[in-house]
Amino acid sequence: GAERAEALVLFGVTGDLSRKMILPALYRLTADSRLDLPIICVAKTDLDLDGLREHARQAVGGVHDAAFDKLAGNLRLVAGDYRDPETFARLREEVAGKGFLVHYLAVPPSLFATVAEGLAGAGLNHDARLVVEKPFGHDLTSARELNEELLKHFDEDHVRRVDHFLAKEPVEDLMVFRFANTLLEPIWNRSHIRSVQITMAEDFDVRDRGAFYDANGTVRDVVQNHLLQLLAILAMDPPPSTDARAQLDEKWRVLRAVQAIDPADVVRGQYTGYLGTDGVRPDSTTETFVALRAYIDNWRWAGVPWCIRSGKGLPTTDLEIVAELRKPPVTMFHGGDAPPGPNLIRFRLQPDAGVTFDLLAKEPGKQHTRPVPVSVDFTKVLGPMEAAYERVLADAVSGDPRRFARFDLVEESWRIVRRVLDLPERPLPYELGSWGPEPAAKIAPGGWHEISTTFD
Ligand code: BG6
Repeated sequence: GAERAEALVLFGVTGDLSRKMILPALYRLTADSRLDLPIICVAKTDLDLDGLREHARQAVGGVHDAAFDKLAGNLRLVAGDYRDPETFARLREEVAGKGFLVHYLAVPPSLFATVAEGLAGAGLNHDARLVVEKPFGHDLTSARELNEELLKHFDEDHVRRVDHFLAKEPVEDLMVFRFANTLLEPIWNRSHIRSVQITMAEDFDVRDRGAFYDANGTVRDVVQNHLLQLLAILAMDPPPSTDARAQLDEKWRVLRAVQAIDPADVVRGQYTGYLGTDGVRPDSTTETFVALRAYIDNWRWAGVPWCIRSGKGLPTTDLEIVAELRKPPVTMFHGGDAPPGPNLIRFRLQPDAGVTFDLLAKEPGKQHTRPVPVSVDFTKVLGPMEAAYERVLADAVSGDPRRFARFDLVEESWRIVRRVLDLPERPLPYELGSWGPEPAAKIAPGGWHEISTTFD
């Protein structure tokens, strides 16, 4: 399933995702000489090829340079309806003799099956890989139905489900940090870790995505996919080898052990003003914030709460994971206004990237041995990073499966959230710029640790 593609077929080139993410990423890959292949764009559009090139130029920021000319020279256009076999017949002519293909579906999920069927109807499902964007299904049942539709025409080995969080370099660094060092592994279990807190905060509201967001909510938008993938990477056992299959198998094994989240372990919020957003139902009970606890039933993690919170309209835009260590069994050092805090390991993923240990040390220059907080920080060793979408597209073309979501993992994550989707109660209101409704504070044992400030 990892053949290198000789041509990229892009469905949905005029859509939002292509404009914001895919075309800019294709441009940067071309500029870095990492990608040079025909890009056949399929879309229902009135544009001609020149119009398409201009659309691409706008998407990448209006540049006039050799890299853009090279990208523009690679673009081809097949305009037509995805329901019309004629569109696929013309696509077949366009790709004739081009070797292995990758079909990238940057279209709404409701069209995935239609496009897959159209491709198969024209025989374009052979010697080809299918890449689909998120969301993959709306719940466990619909994800299985969608998968069945796709597997009629492509085998699992040739399907890639995008979760762009997996392509973020700091996310991959979690795995390197865990398994290239021996520091963490001896304490990375229930005997030493009291809780793990995953925070994905965004300081903006749902913007112009009201209709999409209202049909989904925070659990579907980021917990079922991105944040459970982070949990899997951090909680899994060391894979026996670096090959993609071994990594995906270990992630599956740990997700398999996660209990379906109990509605009693969830606080949902909706920011004040959400109901007035374009595309949002006036009586919507969709959550724009969630805080929840998940438990993993295995020897390593039994009883340790994995707390996840995410939302729109929060005080900051940050992605950070904090592991809290258990305190020493006996307190030797007293005094001071507050008892010394627990040791923390902070994995900072966005906007900066690095790891910080929050430790305690003797207050210097004093007779007493009162501990004060000190931090050991790894930020500076990390250099500039590749954007996630560049890696998604490079992997789509090369076929490397490790940074995509395999279906058995998708299935487990829908199972894990299934009891907390579409809860009938109205979410609790919260003000824009706050950390969600007040009861969310109680989801993490001892409260949520403050997010570290961005280092410069
Ligand atoms: C998307 C969600 O998958 O991820 C968005 O639909 C969210 O709601 C986005 O804002 C966050 O991704 P990133 O890469 O911008 O942190």
